[in-house]
Amino acid sequence: MLIVAKDRSFPAHFTKNLNFGTQTIFFRMRTKLVAGNWKMNTTPEEGQKLASEVVNMVKDELNREVQVVLAPPFTHLHQVSRLIGDAKHISLAAQNVSEHEKGAYTGEISVGMLKAVGVKWVILGHSERREFFKESNQQLAKKLDAVLAGGLQPIFCCGEPLEIREKEDQNGYVQRQLEESLFHLSEEQMRKVVIAYEPIWAIGTGKTASDDQAQEMHAHIRQQLAGKWGQNLANEIRILYGGSVKPDNAKSLFAKPDVDGGLVGGASLKSRDFMDIIKGAV
Ligand code: PGA
Repeated sequence: MLIVAKDRSFPAHFTKNLNFGTQTIFFRMRTKLVAGNWKMNTTPEEGQKLASEVVNMVKDELNREVQVVLAPPFTHLHQVSRLIGDAKHISLAAQNVSEHEKGAYTGEISVGMLKAVGVKWVILGHSERREFFKESNQQLAKKLDAVLAGGLQPIFCCGEPLEIREKEDQNGYVQRQLEESLFHLSEEQMRKVVIAYEPIWAIGTGKTASDDQAQEMHAHIRQQLAGKWGQNLANEIRILYGGSVKPDNAKSLFAKPDVDGGLVGGASLKSRDFMDIIKGAV
């Protein structure tokens, strides 16, 4: 997407300026983002190896603006944060966080704890958290508040199960997820959110949504955002696709006008594959 704007009151991921002699034109476009969700995989040693390979590949091979995010398990965050250091293009995410600030919540991790080890992003509402840990849209609304209040950026996941897709109810289903978790946010808060559309039937199954199915849902999501916050804001929000993204399908998915990158599970555990997916966003 490319819009020519008169001023530059937009977030950094959204503005490019080109100088034509005396005239500067600001191009408004969404910088692509590719996030690797390692889930509950890798030992600390394996994680260290994987993260340093990705950091080096990104340094050597990425010459265009793409944001890369690594989401290792909690126990690896500190070490991966140090490996990333001040590397250009790469930042760190957690896979979950508590909605509480502190206190008697055995086993939980707070926003403050994540910030202290260099985390910038938090994946919220992944379908595995919804399914296995019963996270509801309402609880996710609270987690979003905590993440945004703490100055981190959420990657908010949504997406329908197979039986809903078979009934062709996916638009209403995803719309409800957005309404119940996001629609209380102010415009300023919403600007910080990245959305990941992950049809559950495509996660870890090797079955990807077709480029057109992804585009159709992403356009629907953007339309919901426009209805709530206006078209300008909707044009700024990045919507990632997730679900069996691989090196051989990334490029055509990311080429769709409303697909602004990907949330990658299995293929992010192999540095070469992950790097080839990142290059699909260039
Ligand atoms: P997958 O996982 O790429 O292994 O399908 C995607 C995700 O769960 O974020």
